[in-house]
Amino acid sequence: MGDIHLEEVKDTPELPVEVIVYILSFLHASDRKEASLVCRSWYDASQDLRFQKNAMFCFPASASSLELVRGLSRRSRCSLIISQLDGFSMSKSLLLEVGLCLGSKLESLALPGSSITEASLLTLLPCLTSLRRLDLRGLDSLFMSGAFLSREEHRQQVRSALCGLEELDLSDLRYLSDLTFNRLTSCTPRLRRLSLSGCHIAFEFDPYRGRPVGAVEASSALLSLRNLKRLVTEQKSTLVALDLSRTSITPESLRTIAQIQGLVLEELRLHGCKELTNYSIEALVKHQPNLRRLDISACTELTSRSVEAIAQGLKSLTHLSLSRDWRITEKGLADLLSVSSLKSLDLSECLHISGAEMVKGFVGPDPTRAQLETLSLKSCTYIRDLALYSLAQFLGDTLCELDLTSCVNLTDLSVCAIATYLQRLVVLRLGWCKEVTDWGLLGMVERIQYELDNKMKDKGPKFTRTFGNMGFFKPPHLSFEDRPRLVTQSDLEQLKQQAGASLLALNRLQELDLSACSKLTDSSITQVLRHPDLHRLSLSMLPEITDESLALVARHCRSLTSLNLSYCPHISDQGVAQAAPYLRRLQHLNLSFCNKITDRSLFYLVQHCKRLRTLDISKCKNISMTAMDLLQSQLPSLENVSCRLIGGFDPNFRI
Ligand SMILES: *[C@@H]1O[C@H](CO)[C@@H](O)[C@H](O)[C@H]1NC(C)=O
Ligand SMILES: *[C@@H]1O[C@H](CO)[C@@H](O)[C@H](O)[C@H]1NC(C)=O
Ligand SMILES: *[C@@H]1O[C@H](CO)[C@@H](O)[C@H](O)[C@H]1NC(C)=O
Ligand SMILES: *[C@@H]1O[C@H](CO)[C@@H](O)[C@H](O)[C@H]1NC(C)=O
Ligand SMILES: *[C@@H]1O[C@H](CO)[C@@H](O)[C@H](O)[C@H]1NC(C)=O
Ligand SMILES: *[C@@H]1O[C@H](CO)[C@@H](O)[C@H](O)[C@H]1NC(C)=O
Repeated sequence: MGDIHLEEVKDTPELPVEVIVYILSFLHASDRKEASLVCRSWYDASQDLRFQKNAMFCFPASASSLELVRGLSRRSRCSLIISQLDGFSMSKSLLLEVGLCLGSKLESLALPGSSITEASLLTLLPCLTSLRRLDLRGLDSLFMSGAFLSREEHRQQVRSALCGLEELDLSDLRYLSDLTFNRLTSCTPRLRRLSLSGCHIAFEFDPYRGRPVGAVEASSALLSLRNLKRLVTEQKSTLVALDLSRTSITPESLRTIAQIQGLVLEELRLHGCKELTNYSIEALVKHQPNLRRLDISACTELTSRSVEAIAQGLKSLTHLSLSRDWRITEKGLADLLSVSSLKSLDLSECLHISGAEMVKGFVGPDPTRAQLETLSLKSCTYIRDLALYSLAQFLGDTLCELDLTSCVNLTDLSVCAIATYLQRLVVLRLGWCKEVTDWGLLGMVERIQYELDNKMKDKGPKFTRTFGNMGFFKPPHLSFEDRPRLVTQSDLEQLKQQAGASLLALNRLQELDLSACSKLTDSSITQVLRHPDLHRLSLSMLPEITDESLALVARHCRSLTSLNLSYCPHISDQGVAQAAPYLRRLQHLNLSFCNKITDRSLFYLVQHCKRLRTLDISKCKNISMTAMDLLQSQLPSLENVSCRLIGGFDPNFRI
């Protein structure tokens, strides 16, 4: 959505609120937020219950948050993330207020970065009768004494409120023991999801008693496998998701849990469980064949054998992360991509993957291959154009998110393939793909390039409007008319002779990362970044681009909320002056290491970018503290300014 002019809206006859609600229902949440500012009736429409389903409010504890909480009590339901609560009276009264105003409406509560006492939390928990999700991650202050919920009367109060709780997050609790865990979970008898990631769970051996864990009764010093198994067994009829990431779970322990009779897991997270072996994954797949989401990233012992087991055994799998499982090779990937339910695959930092076998998984008939929606090949440096060209063809109907960060050997051909075939992309990350040039973004053919070379002046390609008429903005000429197939090296040679689509073709893009694609210049950036829905853009570390790029990007991408221009040495106040009037939605701006930026840029930001929340102007030498003060006083939305070493002032100053 571009700009909404108040006048136009006022001129139209008053629309019934239902009609406005209907219109708003077609917008992205962020666009809807903009629209709500147009006038009173649009605001009222934006408050319709249908838009409030997942309203999540996130704020630090402070005196002003009391007011906010009271304001929320008009809602039928809501979710809160309150950070920085402590043991002092302000935090206590805030929690009291939450209980009073939102007790029966709160669906989800998280208290990150807080240190609250049992007493404060107990004033709140018994009021939360609609709570579905409770996040106590890292709240060591609650568990340190070991006395949490030790009194039966407290447990009864909490139990009668939380008996419908579905999701409990107990990650990163250093002092969780069998006793506190049992007291708390006895109040939540119907959990669907439980996270214990990063907790010290004693899987095999009790270091305090010097004997195998679970030989005796519940421990007051640590959480044991035996006790966890008991809980999972008790709640197996509801429990479908378990997160044991960053624990030292052993192969034998994983098998013990996977084997629990009647347990049917749909989701399991085991990120960074370095003890796990191929054998563990084989056993897991055998006992939990209904898994849909599996995260075994950073399980560094796993090899392709695990991938084969997953491909054979998990026929309902939708999401798989193998990120940083660096022993994994191409073996088994073709089978994996024949799992037709698979929608999301993360292979980032699987350093041996080249894609050569992988693409063969797509060759089968349609219904038997993965319809991937998201794919990450970040840092898979062996991926080359050949593999990517095939992948792009096969995934054209479904792929929305593609991460190729640091696939350093991809060239313009890959960019053309992406623009030609992957027209549903919403997120595209090409950071550090250093071979990519203007030609790739423009979808230009090399043949034209040669013709141009003669006419080119010393400074590289220059494009004028007439180029638009020469054909490179036309719909792409598809090289495979009938159906996708594997691309061979000789196909690739032929493709080099043809024009592809330019980046303009990706008109659904919301996020684009071109950081450190250092060959890019104004020639492409000014021509192909015309994406009305683009929210996040990084042009960081593009040493060639100038104010011209900034001005045109701003004019054509007016939905930008986050823009990164760090290390773009040619960007100056002039560019900011031209861009700022169009960037009214900008919330995050990074201008660090842009040496030409001075106080004047801050002035333009103050004038036009009223939503700015974070600004990085580190190492912008010509910005003064006076201008910083002005910025701070004039932009109330501003939360965080990083300005290391501006105007000779060093400390990591923050607002
Ligand atoms: C299974 O994993 C181990 C490492 O834990 C590895 O040494 C072994 O080669 C793997 N087996 C196969 C068949 O991949
Ligand atoms: C990428 O290409 C460069 C130059 O062509 C080559 O030296 C390098 O080995 C390649 N890297 C990988 C991981 O294939
Ligand atoms: C660009 O800036 C955004 C927000 O300021 C930040 O999240 C992102 O990590 C930055 N990217 C790079 C490559 O610096
Ligand atoms: C701005 O970009 C620099 C360099 O790319 C990065 O180190 C920094 O973290 C970014 N700042 C923010 C606030 O994201
Ligand atoms: C930035 O400051 C330096 C000296 O501190 C000055 O030489 C330079 O011209 C200034 N740059 C701009 C763009 O104002
Ligand atoms: C402000 O930014 C700095 C550096 O980017 C970061 O370390 C810090 O956590 C941020 N502070 C807040 C309150 O967001």
